[in-house]
Amino acid sequence: MSGSSLLPASLILVGAGKMGGAMLEGWLADGLPGERVAVIDPNPAPAMVALCAAHRIALNPAHPSEPEALVLAIKPQGLEAAAEGLAPLAGPATVVVSVLAGKTIANLKDRLPRARAVVRAMPNLPASIRRGATGAAASPETSEDQRRTAHALLASNGLVEWLEDENLIDAVTAVSGSGPAYVFLLAEALAEAGIAAGLPAEVAARLARQTVAGAGELLGRSPEEPGTLRRNVTSPGGTTAAALEVLMAGDGLAPLMRDAVAAAKSRAGELAG
Ligand SMILES: NC(=O)c1ccc[n+]([C@@H]2O[C@H](COP(=O)([O-])OP(=O)(O)OC[C@H]3O[C@@H](n4cnc5c(N)ncnc54)[C@H](OP(=O)(O)O)[C@@H]3O)[C@@H](O)[C@H]2O)c1
Repeated sequence: MSGSSLLPASLILVGAGKMGGAMLEGWLADGLPGERVAVIDPNPAPAMVALCAAHRIALNPAHPSEPEALVLAIKPQGLEAAAEGLAPLAGPATVVVSVLAGKTIANLKDRLPRARAVVRAMPNLPASIRRGATGAAASPETSEDQRRTAHALLASNGLVEWLEDENLIDAVTAVSGSGPAYVFLLAEALAEAGIAAGLPAEVAARLARQTVAGAGELLGRSPEEPGTLRRNVTSPGGTTAAALEVLMAGDGLAPLMRDAVAAAKSRAGELAG
């Protein structure tokens, strides 16, 4: 996790919806003083208006000046319309951090022609509880200090992995960006299997949900590899081993997951631009 000392001296957040709001809450929790922040959002939710008032954050200032960091968290399809107003804010000394799915560093530079340091990041849903996983890539002009600033901004919401090759963001999207949905599906499938095994539907749903949440929490807290944790709960010849024999068969979960991630990666490539 970041310390507030690495967070920027001035910051503008553009788009204070689900992801932008979660990031803002992370920065405040990390000690970023609200006075250093401005939020631009034409239609902020009442909770955002209240948060800004409580922390003395400038909401939709009339004449925002060029900040040290400009964080873009609008919908990707909104970039074109927003770009004209944003271009004057993204100067050569500003680090632009974008979480816009599918928008490449080149797309962002096209829209923000004075910007040099551009970081393209792909966070995921658990960012909202500061347990996110983010992949990030930076334009070559991004200085070490700017990269540290971007890292601090992204690390307020969880793990950050830097990629030297921006093209790998599609793979990040397929693994961690879309990954929470795979885990939710696992809870659904486990509940359905529980019903098939004779459990009442609501009991199966509660047991499956808590099992996925509890195992995830355990994994998050443990220093062990997932494979070690799995082996630790698998006695030879026991019930878990019987199930894993099915899940780890040649046509089991691993090839299915490879296909699923490959499909998501290829779709991310199609949607980019
Ligand atoms: N949510 C996730 O888990 C997740 C994960 C990875 C990446 N992302 C990325 O995060 C970005 C935001 O997603 P989200 O789920 O947070 O969407 P969202 O909840 O719709 O938030 C977008 C916010 O931006 C506002 N906005 C629209 N046009 C604007 C403009 N010109 N200037 C300033 N603000 C503007 C929207 O206002 P209105 O509602 O009035 O239009 C809304 O409050 C997307 O690009 C997405 O690809 C999200």
